[in-house]
Amino acid sequence: MKTPTVLISEADLQRRVSEMAQQIEADYAASERFIALGILKGSVFFMVDLLKQISLPLVVDFFQTSSYRDSTVPGELRIRKDIDLSIRGADVLLVEDIVDTGYTLRTVLDLMRFRNARSVKLCALLDKVSRRQVEVSIDYRGFEIEDVFVVGYGLDYADLYRNLPYVGVLPRTEET
Ligand code: IMP
Ligand code: MG
Repeated sequence: MKTPTVLISEADLQRRVSEMAQQIEADYAASERFIALGILKGSVFFMVDLLKQISLPLVVDFFQTSSYRDSTVPGELRIRKDIDLSIRGADVLLVEDIVDTGYTLRTVLDLMRFRNARSVKLCALLDKVSRRQVEVSIDYRGFEIEDVFVVGYGLDYADLYRNLPYVGVLPRTEET
């Protein structure tokens, strides 16, 4: 396994995640039903750090999509594991590791609205804005990054590297 070079350090991640948590806590203080929905598996590390710093009553659920990259039609997204809770009337905060082309989030945001959530907002740690193909508005954004493939803090390459405490870039070689 190659050692990635650090793009966003653990300290910078923790500092930014704390700021985001404070902002979310202020914005959701009056919510009567606050649901944090994580998209498996990438969002998990970020989501845990974020939610531990929010002291409002909230519930947590997850769903998993199968990437359009596995499918023949670009933009086609399948729900591999759906949420268990009803989101009708709830204030939904979607938590995602990274927004790249935007297809994943566009589809998921539309689905949540269709299910009659009271509000749906998006919190994404990373934003590769130069790669966007469909418009997605990010309500809480950790960092904007260049078009580089990143791993760590939940993000994977072939399911590895998720447990790195920082966000890094893999060296470009034939093997990676
Ligand atoms: P989108 O639908 O193109 O926005 O894709 C978003 C998904 O692609 C993310 O949830 C990640 O799982 C994956 N992804 C996009 N860019 C990267 C990256 O640089 N490293 C790891 N995974 C990525
Ligand atoms: Mg993902």
